[in-house]
Amino acid sequence: MIRFDILSIFPEMFESPFSSSLIKKALDRHIIDVRLHDIRGYAVDKHRMTDDYPYGGGGGMVMKVEPVARALDDIVSEESDCRVILMTPQGEPFSQKIAEDLARCNHIVIICGHYEGIDERISENLVDREISIGDYVLTGGELPAMILVDAISRLVPNVLGNNESALFDTFATGLLEYPQYTRPQEYRTWTVPEVLLSGDHKKINQWRRKKSLERTLMKRPDLLEKAPLSEEDMRLLEEIRKETE
Ligand SMILES: C[S@@+](CC[C@H](N)C(=O)[O-])C[C@H]1O[C@@H](n2cnc3c(N)ncnc32)[C@H](O)[C@@H]1O
Repeated sequence: MIRFDILSIFPEMFESPFSSSLIKKALDRHIIDVRLHDIRGYAVDKHRMTDDYPYGGGGGMVMKVEPVARALDDIVSEESDCRVILMTPQGEPFSQKIAEDLARCNHIVIICGHYEGIDERISENLVDREISIGDYVLTGGELPAMILVDAISRLVPNVLGNNESALFDTFATGLLEYPQYTRPQEYRTWTVPEVLLSGDHKKINQWRRKKSLERTLMKRPDLLEKAPLSEEDMRLLEEIRKETE
């Protein structure tokens, strides 16, 4: 069981994405637990202010330190193995590797920023990790938080129908996944590769490995530099290079 606590000024944004598909099933089966916290509920003044003008001037508003710090005081218990993550475009780029690391924790707290971001004293004092979902800027941290919850949850045992399927996913092996086909065997004139119909699992696995290498070479050659490759993989890559010359 993994528990996510999400701090946001718009917690209602999470209702729809978490109310269908595999994440809903995982919540219903108590394999994951998602708790939403409205940062406004931790505001210290009677107007429930969660943002204020930036010191030093400039446009936009900055989320205040006190409500977020008070929410964290409430949620983060000292005994639990808890990671506090701030969603920010300035963080380390999110990856399958980070999702795998975080899937081993049992408690993850995610802070969603808005406006110009959150008072820097939060990341300086209360955050374990800053994560970005890519080199672009969104209006808030809610969509990035949903991406984290989804990518981490599908690695938690029993969330996916078939636990094996995550093992061969794109990035999990360091390569892009091989192509997949399902029925019908022929549509218009488009057919399924013969080998997949052969029932010969050794041949099917060899074909899949070669396709995985081939599409990584074509679409993401940068991944090949770090991927753990066997001598057989190197031989296959040589073969692919010759075939595509
Ligand atoms: C408009 S952004 C703030 C950007 C900030 N002024 C900057 O330039 O770094 C508001 C909030 O959206 C979230 N956010 C925006 N883009 C993101 C990204 N690529 N990855 C993760 N979070 C992001 C963060 O929580 C951020 O605090």
